[in-house]
Amino acid sequence: MNITMIGTGYVGLTSGTCFAEVGHHVTCVDINPEKIDMLLKGEIPIYEPGLADLVKSNVDAGRLKFTTSTEEGVKFGDVIFIAVPTPPQPDGSVDLSFIERVAREIAECLTPEIGYRVIVDKSTVPVKTGEKVAQTVRRYAPDGVEFGVVSNPEFLREGCAVDDLLHPDRIVIGSNDDKALSLMQKLYEPFVAPVLVTDINSAELIKHAANSFLALKISYINAVANVCEASNADVEKVAEGIGMDKRIGRAFLNAGLGYGGSCFPKDIKAFIAISEALGQPFGLLKEVERINAEQMDRFLNKIREKLWVFRDKKIALWGLAFKQNTDDVRESVAIKLAKRMLEEGASLAATDPEAIGTAKRFGELTGEITFSEDMYGTLDGADALVIATEWPQFANADLTEIAKRMRTPLVFDGRNLLDPEDAKSAGLEYESIGRAA
Ligand code: UGA
Repeated sequence: MNITMIGTGYVGLTSGTCFAEVGHHVTCVDINPEKIDMLLKGEIPIYEPGLADLVKSNVDAGRLKFTTSTEEGVKFGDVIFIAVPTPPQPDGSVDLSFIERVAREIAECLTPEIGYRVIVDKSTVPVKTGEKVAQTVRRYAPDGVEFGVVSNPEFLREGCAVDDLLHPDRIVIGSNDDKALSLMQKLYEPFVAPVLVTDINSAELIKHAANSFLALKISYINAVANVCEASNADVEKVAEGIGMDKRIGRAFLNAGLGYGGSCFPKDIKAFIAISEALGQPFGLLKEVERINAEQMDRFLNKIREKLWVFRDKKIALWGLAFKQNTDDVRESVAIKLAKRMLEEGASLAATDPEAIGTAKRFGELTGEITFSEDMYGTLDGADALVIATEWPQFANADLTEIAKRMRTPLVFDGRNLLDPEDAKSAGLEYESIGRAA
């Protein structure tokens, strides 16, 4: 099939590429000419394992193309995806202006001659956005144009996006139109995954409800971790014990510094705003946010208690990305933590396997901070090591080397990556989350 993907951000680029990989012909459209130039040269604007190779092989095979022209995209694709940003507004509600603009642009490029088009919302949007997209296209398109609107939310995780896209847990298609639905089913035929067909509003809600539930699991285990700390219990064991119940599951029960990234913080805020706008305020999610925000403060207090003051202390910071396997630092708890320690006068030697460049460009870390690719090098003369991102490299670190290099071997593990007993045997004074000190 011919597919058009409007927006080459994280979701657009990765999902467009994976549609090409399974045999469809895909045109990716972006209004940013520099981005399209980069992609045409084979340069990938994001770090995502496996993506660069996949883009190259599909471009070489003639299945993946890039353009700045929406008109070209609308003529090309039987199915036209909208995958543009839906950023938060200051009150937490979603800014839908990019979606509205793309809907208008698509409408203006449609003609009765090019035939039926399916317009699919891939971006994370509030419930009832599909209705607005349909109204907008109808209003701006010439008479006689035929189209259907579909909601097809994306559930990929950064860092394993290619695998998530090629082998999804489920595919959700929200459609109120049989013709659009059968084209969508054909599009997803090459994928081996259960397909759930719903109405448009339910599909839109599934995305916000799923992300909110995952964030809820994280805040839940973080709250349990705090009870564990107060009672000398071990949150890792508690997570294992409750996770063995199939109804609960072990995934997303890793206690730590809380969730960050470009999705959860924004989507939880959005779902709260949506529920309030619908007259059904979702107080539980406010508590999820509160627990998440407090988690970093509690950790900072833990460091402060041991170090007494931050001023003039040299701290090695392992981790800048919001999680492992990505260079993304948006809403990263590691960055927030670094800012707070810098504000209190600490000097930081920071490392991250992929996110040093993005952290520097992000520009929020000012003051006494140096960056190094060499994780052990950051430890030389350090008063403390703070682990803020769950990279496997940090989990597998050489503990004796850590102890040898530091001025005082104090380790604050915000992701529970190290084994407390091993850390102690290596001579480290070790603090983590929800585990007996
Ligand atoms: C998340 C969802 O997992 C995807 O299904 C969804 O498609 C995506 O948002 C989106 O809406 O686009 P992502 O933001 O890439 O994906 O990252 P996650 O792997 O979900 O991690 C989010 C945050 O939670 C990270 O900061 C991570 O460190 C934290 N986390 C995760 C925990 O603190 N504990 C856990 O047990 C799991």
